[in-house]
Amino acid sequence: MAKAKTTAFFCKECGYESAKWMGQCPACREWNTMVEEPVGKKGASVLPGRQAPLIKSRPARLSEISIEEKDRVTTGYGELDRVLGGGVVAGSLVLVGGDPGIGKSTLLLQVCGNLAASGQKVLYISGEESLKQIKLRANRIGSMAGDLKFQCETSLDHIRDTIIEEKPDVVIIDSIQTMYREEISSAPGSVSQVRESTSLLMQIAKGEGVTIFIVGHVTKEGVVAGPRVLEHMVDTVLYFEGDRHASYRILRGVKNRFGSTNEIGVFEMQQQGLTEVENPSEFMLDGRPQGASGAVVACAMEGTRPILLEVQALVTQSNLGIPRRTAAGTDYNRVNLLMAVLEKRCHYEMSRYDAYVNIAGGMRMNEPALDLSIIMALVSSLKDRAVDEKTIVFGEVGLSGEVRAVSMAEQRVNEAVKLGFEACMLPQICLDKMKRTEKIRLIGVRTVREAISQLQ
Ligand code: TYD
Ligand code: MG
Repeated sequence: MAKAKTTAFFCKECGYESAKWMGQCPACREWNTMVEEPVGKKGASVLPGRQAPLIKSRPARLSEISIEEKDRVTTGYGELDRVLGGGVVAGSLVLVGGDPGIGKSTLLLQVCGNLAASGQKVLYISGEESLKQIKLRANRIGSMAGDLKFQCETSLDHIRDTIIEEKPDVVIIDSIQTMYREEISSAPGSVSQVRESTSLLMQIAKGEGVTIFIVGHVTKEGVVAGPRVLEHMVDTVLYFEGDRHASYRILRGVKNRFGSTNEIGVFEMQQQGLTEVENPSEFMLDGRPQGASGAVVACAMEGTRPILLEVQALVTQSNLGIPRRTAAGTDYNRVNLLMAVLEKRCHYEMSRYDAYVNIAGGMRMNEPALDLSIIMALVSSLKDRAVDEKTIVFGEVGLSGEVRAVSMAEQRVNEAVKLGFEACMLPQICLDKMKRTEKIRLIGVRTVREAISQLQ
């Protein structure tokens, strides 16, 4: 009889399992992500979802299921509540992913403070920091009141016992990559441990009605499984992102069983922890150069929320056979396409110039509504003529050089009015559908040529 296999290969990006090593994962197409892990007898005995359930479930009619308003709890942060779809749903499993050091523990500690202050029973379990370290962080953040307890623990079997004993309303697991189950023979952080641990947490959340926040580090190297391995198991997936060098952080909803995705929350990291940024447009436009060529204010939508940002372009004579092009914060291919439109439809010799496009502030935006802003920034830099700094520009550009309609034009215009802009260049089609307003001068354009002719 052939010897039973004791190890298997797992993709640490998506959790794909294979009997042999492969250079590229066939599921997520990432290279060099397969790692070997033991799947010994111990492990094989616990198949995913086969553990004895904590509480026997019973069938119920829709009419017997209550969905009272109190099932949603506000976290005390409007920005986080919005991303969660209006507060956290009791008994849900929320994954907060992000790069190490981005501020996940800080955010969740602050949320714990708020939830405890509003009368919830909170348990914060850390597998990474000592109680002293947590206390130091809490001191930095400020006062913590209410029923808030901390524990340093990495064994999930112990954690389960604690939860059943203490009956908290909210539990934080920081982080899933440090947790382990005794039945599984592989090391903490391995794909099978991370998966099994999450499946146990799911059972606890649903069985006991406890809200559980799981922290997951995004790892680029090493053998630690990333949060994508458990994305499919949890109710809500949030990613905390941001430029390490910039102070603002964006919380992005990627999956939400209880609300819409695409929503973002903006925070700023300060000495005393994270603070909410209620008006990100103001924040993004801070320190904008006045009267400089190649800078255009654009309006992008993040979910239902308009955000004004500055698109910058620098176009210079090229000394190389193949001109250099870069795009920071937006899609490189889209920038190339827009330059081709300028070359063909407006007869600018873009191939003679190097071009650098940048979204100021380190934010990433790929919305087609930025097309017209990018074009205007490029032409403004090429001609060395500034676009009026009190004007915002948005619109999608088609391959024949036409300016196409974008969604939610009215919200974008309102945001510009709110921030004191005096003019707005937008697709004519959007303008035709909009109510007349005295608050701002609206310039409708049908083609890229028409838009450029507005540049004095
Ligand atoms: P942390 O929450 O530990 O990150 P994560 O849990 O995602 O790994 O955040 C650590 C960073 O935040 C660290 O670089 C210091 C910074 N920080 C502040 O700037 N101000 C603060 O009040 C706190 C608590 C942290
Ligand atoms: Mg941490």
